[in-house]
Amino acid sequence: MRLFVEYYDAIYSDKNYKVDADIMRSLVKTAARPSILEIGSGTGNQSLLLAEWANIAAVEMDKDFANAMRKKCAGNNAITLFEGDISGLDANGFDGAAALFHVLNYVPDHTAMLHLFKETAKRLKSGAPFLFDMWHAECALVDEPYETTRVKVFDNYLGKGKATQTIYPTFNTQTRDIRLDYDIVVELEGRAEPVHVTETINMHLHLEGEVAGALREAGFSDITFYDVKNYPELANDKSWTMWVVAHRAQS
Ligand SMILES: C[S@@+](CC[C@H](N)C(=O)[O-])C[C@H]1O[C@@H](n2cnc3c(N)ncnc32)[C@H](O)[C@@H]1O
Repeated sequence: MRLFVEYYDAIYSDKNYKVDADIMRSLVKTAARPSILEIGSGTGNQSLLLAEWANIAAVEMDKDFANAMRKKCAGNNAITLFEGDISGLDANGFDGAAALFHVLNYVPDHTAMLHLFKETAKRLKSGAPFLFDMWHAECALVDEPYETTRVKVFDNYLGKGKATQTIYPTFNTQTRDIRLDYDIVVELEGRAEPVHVTETINMHLHLEGEVAGALREAGFSDITFYDVKNYPELANDKSWTMWVVAHRAQS
């Protein structure tokens, strides 16, 4: 397993996953115990929170993340994991869908985004919400990402420790592709030597209009972009990250 995946929960120990799960919960107003399609479940942190009130079908295309999630969610009968592309998932009729923590920015281009939206739409009930967050391309183009170092102190199943993470972005403003080189030092209590983790993540910044157009083409309507930091305020030109809420159009 890649070290980045092994230490993912240390690196993101400061993320408040509950905020995302609570927004999803507020959007799904149908069944007493709804069914949720979760795309890009990573190590399963969201899945576990969503599974407190819903049945989760999680889709994860990365083998290492899928293995980490299997281990973490073993024994939770409310969660089923499908490893691969969503088109291979043999299930539908979901009450809602979610792709949380920048999954959309892992989708490399317009064609792949349209594919993901279409495959999601056809598995949702009419009117069901689809929630995802994404970097705001228009905002990043004027306020470009820069090198950052963050220190995260954690105390979780990995033990107690500190992760010092530096991210080096390389942003191609023409193609809106962005390469993030991660350099992370994880210090675990009781372990003499720190662990050095490196990872390169290739992301793409989709324009707001392209996202809205692809959602409509895929069969979604009632599309709203919100400011992540000030949710439920609408996104503006200073919103570096946005929540997107769309609904499966009534058929
Ligand atoms: C930053 S991680 C977020 C993981 C998790 N949702 C969380 O909040 O910790 C993005 C995840 O989405 C997965 N992913 C990206 N595109 C995907 C796709 N089209 N289908 C399934 N998984 C995808 C990646 O493999 C990665 O595990």
